[in-house]
Amino acid sequence: MTDRELLNTALIAREAAYAPYSGYFVGAALLAEDGTVYTGCNMENASYSATLCAERAAFAAAISAGAHRFKAIAVAGGKGMKADEAASPCGVCRQVMAEFCDEKFNIILGNEQTLSVYSLGDLLPLSFSLED
Ligand code: THU
Repeated sequence: MTDRELLNTALIAREAAYAPYSGYFVGAALLAEDGTVYTGCNMENASYSATLCAERAAFAAAISAGAHRFKAIAVAGGKGMKADEAASPCGVCRQVMAEFCDEKFNIILGNEQTLSVYSLGDLLPLSFSLED
């Protein structure tokens, strides 16, 4: 699975996003160490704080299926049907990633044209864990 293939899977997952309030549609594709890909999309709610981000939806799918070790996540997002921005994971999603992944975990951001790879260590330095 290449980074481009994982990002394309996130773009497809984005098509299911439920975002009637923000109009910001996000898809995520999470690659487990065994090669399985778990997808998620954002799911909003009239009670705004009940909104779930695409990344955490993908982690919930993976953990629910018994997967605990991961290599990478790709995230694609943008306003409306366009995915011409590069959505970056929110702080809560970064913290959830840190629960299951080390600082070398890859975070792939982009759209149909662009692709950038970061590490969790880049995006969440000095992270909090119960080992601290
Ligand atoms: N969103 C995500 O799905 N992932 C992020 O990391 C950032 C934000 C969603 C939540 C909400 O449905 C919409 O984008 C606007 O914040």
